[in-house]
This record gives sequence, structure tokens and C-alpha cells, in this order.
Amino acid sequence: MNNALSHLEELLSKRKIVRSYKKVNFDTESLKNIASYSIKIPTAGFSRGIEIIQVFNTETIDKISNLFHERKYIEEGKDPWISHSVALFFILLNEDAYHQRYSKSDKAKAVNSKDWDVPYWFVDAGASMMNCMLLIEEKGLSSGFMGLHNTDRKEVNKLLNIPENYLVIGLITAGVQNESIITKSKEIKRKKLIHNEKFSK
Ligand SMILES: Cc1cc2nc3c(=O)[nH]c(=O)nc-3n(C[C@H](O)[C@H](O)[C@H](O)COP(=O)(O)O)c2cc1C
Repeated sequence: MNNALSHLEELLSKRKIVRSYKKVNFDTESLKNIASYSIKIPTAGFSRGIEIIQVFNTETIDKISNLFHERKYIEEGKDPWISHSVALFFILLNEDAYHQRYSKSDKAKAVNSKDWDVPYWFVDAGASMMNCMLLIEEKGLSSGFMGLHNTDRKEVNKLLNIPENYLVIGLITAGVQNESIITKSKEIKRKKLIHNEKFSK
């Protein structure tokens, strides 16, 4: 029996969030297709309300790391992360695209997108986030994810020219892991997350 992992299984099994990058010179030409394949996702009603800003410019990356208060984290003993990224990818949500799509006549019988029990735009954003991380891993880099909870969103929107009605879901980083300071992650108690045939705990 062939137990070899498929390419995708291998990528998935190796991927982990990395928050410590080495400062490197990197030719970002090889990353130029990441954003376009990241948004190659199914979207609810084919609303296409998920967009991406890719940032390769080192000065902009520096400015972004300041907006995310990296200096403060380094002073507290954490490692450089965003500032040492070779590329950053912002996942943006244009929620209006969903409401516009679901106001079309062919969706007249569908549940109004303002009444969804599951806001599908977050499902779609997660799909593009995962594509993006795997595409980064495939290039031999490590990926990380940062939300905007400790950041001034308005400043981020201003710096990147993002319209006010767009919500930045988060920031995906791409960089070279700082191998010298890999710390073993704490033992995490295994959780049962897969159910066979029926839900069982
Ligand atoms: C939706 C989402 C939001 C996250 N937000 C942050 C964040 O703001 N800052 C951060 O350092 N990590 C963030 N993470 C990463 C997780 O805290 C954690 O590193 C991850 O679940 C570990 O997964 P891994 O072991 O498979 O890499 C986020 C992850 C997800 C999926």
C-alpha cells in the first residue's frame, strides 16, 4: 500500500503559524501569483466580495509593522515578525458585494443576505486566507496571520488606500522562519474534532 502523502497533504501537515522571521533579501517575483490564486475561491452566490492587497514594498512593510506596534512587542521580548516579512497579504471584505448580489432577481427566493444565520462572507474570507497560506508554504516560506484588534484600522485603511466600506479581515505574512529561535510549542491536549458517521464525544 502506498502511504506517501500527496503534495497537498504534505503542505497541510507542515503548515503552522510562524511569528518570527529572519531579515532576508528575497526576490518576490516568485510570489506574484499568490494573490490571484488566493481569491480563486467559491464565494456565496458568486458574490466575489473578497479582495486582496499584496504588499512587497519594504518601506510599506515597515510602516505596516509600526501600525501593528511591532517595536513594542520586540521590547517585550518577542521576535521581529511583520517587519521581516518579504510580503504581506491583506484579506479585504466588501460586504456590499454580497448584499448587491442577493438583491438580484434570481436570488429573490433566497434568504436575504442581511438575515443570514451564517455570514458567508467570513467563510469565503477564510477560504482565501487558507489558499494564501498554502501558496506561501509552497514557495518554501512560512506564513502567519494577524488580526487588527490591536491596530488602528483607520490608519491601516489610510496607508493602503482602502475604502471605508471595506473591512480588513486580517493580515497574512510571508517570511523565512528564524530557525535559531524555534521554541517547542506547549503540549496541547488533543481534542476530538473528527466524528465518524455520527457526532460522538
Ligand atoms: C481567524 C484567525 C485569527 C487569528 N488571529 C491571530 C492574531 O491576531 N494574532 C496572532 O498572532 N495569531 C492569530 N491567529 C493564529 C492562531 O492564534 C494560532 O497561531 C493558530 O491557530 C495555530 O495554528 P497552527 O498550529 O496550525 O499553526 C489567528 C488564526 C486564525 C485562524
